[in-house]
Amino acid sequence: MCGIVGYLGNGIAQESLIDGLKRLEYRGYDSAGVAFHEGNKFSMARETGRVKNLAEVVQKKSSSSSLGIAHTRWATHGAVTVSNTHPHRSHDGKFVLVHNGVIENFSPLKKFLKGKGIQFTSETDSEVLCNLIAFHYAESPKSEERFVDAVRLALPQCRGAYGIAVLCLDKSDVLIGARRGSPLVVGLGDDANFIASDASAFVGRAKEAVFLNDGELAILRGRDFRITTLEGQEAQAVSHPVDQISEEVELGDFDSYMEKEIFEQPTALKNTLRGRFGDDGTTSKLGGLEGHEDELRDLDRIIFVACGTARHACMVGEYLIERLARVPVEVEHASEFRYRNSPNAGKSLVIAVSQSGETLDTLEAVREAKTKGLLTLGITNVVGSSLARETDGGVYQRVGPEIGVASTKAFSSQACLCAMLGLALGRMRDLSPMDGQAVVEALNGLPDLVAHVLQQAEQIRELAVKYSKAEHLLFLGRQSLYPVALEGALKLKEISYAHAEGYPAAELKHGPIALINPDCPCIFMVEGTELSAKTIANMQEVKARKGQVLAIAPEEIEIPDEAADDIFRLPVAHEVVRPILANLPLQLFAYHFARLRGLDVDKPRNLAKSVTVE
Ligand code: M6R
Repeated sequence: MCGIVGYLGNGIAQESLIDGLKRLEYRGYDSAGVAFHEGNKFSMARETGRVKNLAEVVQKKSSSSSLGIAHTRWATHGAVTVSNTHPHRSHDGKFVLVHNGVIENFSPLKKFLKGKGIQFTSETDSEVLCNLIAFHYAESPKSEERFVDAVRLALPQCRGAYGIAVLCLDKSDVLIGARRGSPLVVGLGDDANFIASDASAFVGRAKEAVFLNDGELAILRGRDFRITTLEGQEAQAVSHPVDQISEEVELGDFDSYMEKEIFEQPTALKNTLRGRFGDDGTTSKLGGLEGHEDELRDLDRIIFVACGTARHACMVGEYLIERLARVPVEVEHASEFRYRNSPNAGKSLVIAVSQSGETLDTLEAVREAKTKGLLTLGITNVVGSSLARETDGGVYQRVGPEIGVASTKAFSSQACLCAMLGLALGRMRDLSPMDGQAVVEALNGLPDLVAHVLQQAEQIRELAVKYSKAEHLLFLGRQSLYPVALEGALKLKEISYAHAEGYPAAELKHGPIALINPDCPCIFMVEGTELSAKTIANMQEVKARKGQVLAIAPEEIEIPDEAADDIFRLPVAHEVVRPILANLPLQLFAYHFARLRGLDVDKPRNLAKSVTVE
């Protein structure tokens, strides 16, 4: 993971770099550092903890350099210490480097360099790469291209993933970036050019962004730049306007981004839905799928690939798409799909879902699917992200930046888009116009229903207070509410550090019921269908064993007093929107549960918003 940013321009680098790091902090926040080219030396500052710690130190030191690189770290190799914090400096002081990714063969490379007498000061793979560049530089004949040549010689020796920015002491007007597996983008501004992990790092400072492809090098020299392959051939530089890539994000009156993003959901969903229904009101119209109608009509199966919350949204999609379109759907952990030798007979469509569009496991799954000749579509929130660029077509979520590490509004919009996809595919097949119309009406009514549920946030806060001492919780639901149970458990554990598990409700008696005692609350999602009687029976099994039950249930379902200690009611709704509604109280529950423990819900320990390593 990690975020990197580099600055080369006419102005002072310091402010742009610190500002860029703050915007990249979602990629990791274990430690942060910066290095400036000061003519005859590099000045550096590195601090553990958040970027604000670094910012205080940098402000005091105050550099007027116009060339620098910076990094915010999510630790992979080596503990969270100052010496493992980037930038890393080569043993001879000639190079500084920031790196996002993992150099898998760093051990043999380190051994080789140690054999040449090079000493190391950190446990990181990144310091090895920095020294490898220094090694090749020292071995190369003097020339104008010596710095570029050293980078070009070092990188092919590395296995794994990297996005790097590197400076050479002998070149006070050159900044080099390179990528393989980890994203990198060049920002072009009036006064300065940038290299960064993503365009948010230079929003407001650069006008155009040029995304690098794997195996490419960006060479920024003075006010010029060029993109080449590692072998030295010129590569095409396609630029995109930066203002269409990312937006400013204000916290407003909310005390965390997670809270803000939960309450933004009515508006976010309106944006997801806007203009995406056919004129006859019986189907959806997803622009990104245009041109693929014949393939979609003729599909044998859909394979979703995603991670974490996005995968749970896909699992909701699995139930909805099979129900609406009668197309077989599989949902794969992206990291597993990539290494499985799954038989791809027939006409399969791979749909990758990722809020950030930069999750490495998901991107690699897409690349694997493309190698197998499969059609790939992407559902992502970030315009211009790697996923958007690498898939054959796709749909944007349009929910605005999601900053909180815990994904909330992204889940709702992903599940909503899966329902819209199911509707479109269903109408291409057997779904009647009348059933299609009912789904369209349900989806159009979703933002208001979401607003209605969120108005009852206080009741959820009180329930969170009641259950806040629990260290183990079970989340249970059937059918499309099973993935909601998984999502509720994930949300709770990632921000509150309490242990939580999600199960299909009927699985309870196949093992988890052994955990039931008064200190292990069970949160049941009750369906609005005939299955609800079975779920209520499962609740009674818990009560019979002195467990505590909180039921999240639609208004129309009667729940006997003895079956639940507490009930949170959801409005009457069509089955396609019920999973999204049922998830809202779980988001709020996790949020309050964690806040009651005094935790930072936006930046939970050990996590990062965007997971760009395997
Ligand atoms: O950006 P993505 O949607 O690809 O992210 C996938 C997961 O890393 C993400 O959903 C993660 O599980 C969240 N922290 C969950 O809240």
